[in-house]
Amino acid sequence: STIPKAYNEPLRNYEAGSQDAKLLKAACDKLRSECPEIPCVVGGREIKTGNIGKQLVCSDHAQVLCTFHQANEQILREAIEVSLEAKKSWEALPWEDRAAIFLRAADLLATKYRYEANAATMLGQGKTVWQAEIDSACETIDFFRFNVKYVEEIYSMQPPENSKGVWNRVEYRPLEGYVVAISPFNFTAIGANLPTSPALMGNVVLWKPASTAILSNWVIFKILREAGLPDGVINFLPGSGALIGNILLDSPHFAGLHFTGSTAVFNSIMFKTAQNLNNNLYRGYPRMVGETGGKDFHFAHKSALVDNLFHNTVRAAFEYQGQKCSACSRAYIPDNLWPELKERFIEFSKQVKMGQSDDFANFMSAVIDKNSFNNIRNYIDHAAASPDAEILIGGKYDDSKGWFVEPTIIVAKDPKYKSMVEEIFGPVLTIYVYPADQYEETLALCDQTSPYSLTGSIFAQDRYAVATATRLLRNSSGNFYINDKCTGAVVGQQPFGGARASGTNDKAGSNLNLLRWVSARSIKENF
Ligand code: NAD
Ligand code: ALA
Repeated sequence: STIPKAYNEPLRNYEAGSQDAKLLKAACDKLRSECPEIPCVVGGREIKTGNIGKQLVCSDHAQVLCTFHQANEQILREAIEVSLEAKKSWEALPWEDRAAIFLRAADLLATKYRYEANAATMLGQGKTVWQAEIDSACETIDFFRFNVKYVEEIYSMQPPENSKGVWNRVEYRPLEGYVVAISPFNFTAIGANLPTSPALMGNVVLWKPASTAILSNWVIFKILREAGLPDGVINFLPGSGALIGNILLDSPHFAGLHFTGSTAVFNSIMFKTAQNLNNNLYRGYPRMVGETGGKDFHFAHKSALVDNLFHNTVRAAFEYQGQKCSACSRAYIPDNLWPELKERFIEFSKQVKMGQSDDFANFMSAVIDKNSFNNIRNYIDHAAASPDAEILIGGKYDDSKGWFVEPTIIVAKDPKYKSMVEEIFGPVLTIYVYPADQYEETLALCDQTSPYSLTGSIFAQDRYAVATATRLLRNSSGNFYINDKCTGAVVGQQPFGGARASGTNDKAGSNLNLLRWVSARSIKENF
């Protein structure tokens, strides 16, 4: 291989008084004073539609972080035309030239734009310094670097046999048409990966970022342009999901979707696509890649180490306010461990620091927006009133300054209580305490409780217990952890994604995902 070796970007720690901390804080202060106006970008042309949206600081919602111009029908149709024109030269470019752009983008982000990307993620998406660093810096850089490594592997995958007088080869063609990338608010890295992985494989992309993540996604787009991405290859189209989804899916040139977001939205898109197929709108079957919701679990065996279980559970449930698709939102705890674990959770609730996302001392900040706040509040209120549940810690919320919800633990008497089953997407963990001698029955219950299958962890010292859980929970998650938290998959180490209602399981951060953006052609030649 001639490409630079891919490696995981090292974390910076931003400890108090360090140069990194000072520069990042200065970047946050600068963003708080700027309020940029972000355009749509089609074929390199910046367009102001006048239909303005606002992104607010979640922990301080009186402050507008940026405004953005929302794409309208005319801009979307223009974007389709422009991208198809750009495709002609982009797909003809040698892959090394495409790859070089993303490697350069990785370096620009690692150096020149690191503080700006982190500051935009902290203020705009409510991430603490640590949560921003692992997302908008490290994971984004890792996606760019490792995807280049995978693309080289894919192009070199060739049939192992040629019969006498024959030369067989496989050509990896980009899809015929354009790819739509629709990204969620909760990871800047996912915003970056959804449009760039299809583009790396020679596709052109229409990217609709989430309205609550515009500024950080704009920083990524800016970096890609500076790194040399040609005009029209990725087009930046903020705006209404429903409108953009409708227009971009309703064209014969729609060739694929790279979506991450809720199960409900992906279902509606699948439905629309099926209707269009039924009406013979498309030339081919669009590639539909959707990474969707989760109801991720920690499962403890009676032999688990309480200290390890406690630290990992607090982190998986409450870091980034539980707004990771991978967040631990239900836990199964054997009754022998419960008294000690319960005390540890109560102690945690007295000490946890929550506040502004640009105050580096905080462990948690606010949730993303008013809708989310109200949704989470409904689950807490339901538990407070239900005979099937009891609130152990937290349970308070306050949206006077930012959308703040206390880290909350609900103890469910019924293992199929509402909040053991449904995705909440907030700092709410529901625990079911089970009789320690009913291990296998409770594992089966865990598998059957939720429609999702994204991440899950087993905590046990007993190796037989680990093996039993690994077997019985085989289809309960796409990412399975042993004695570790169920969040924090690393690109190049744990390919990420889930099945069942959690998506098509096309594993972000691996060659499996990139393979979805090519359509192979087998070529046989006789001599
Ligand atoms: P969301 O579904 O509300 O929005 C995702 C994107 O879809 C946004 O850009 C939104 O504007 C757009 N959208 C909304 N309605 C649309 C429509 N009708 N047509 C087309 N696009 C539309 O999700 P969110 O709140 O941004 O993110 C949270 C969700 O994402 C959670 O369910 C979480 O589990 C999931 N998620 C999953 C993964 C994973 O890898 N499985 C990763 C991150 C987030
Ligand atoms: N990569 C993120 C995690 O595993 C989604 O938490």
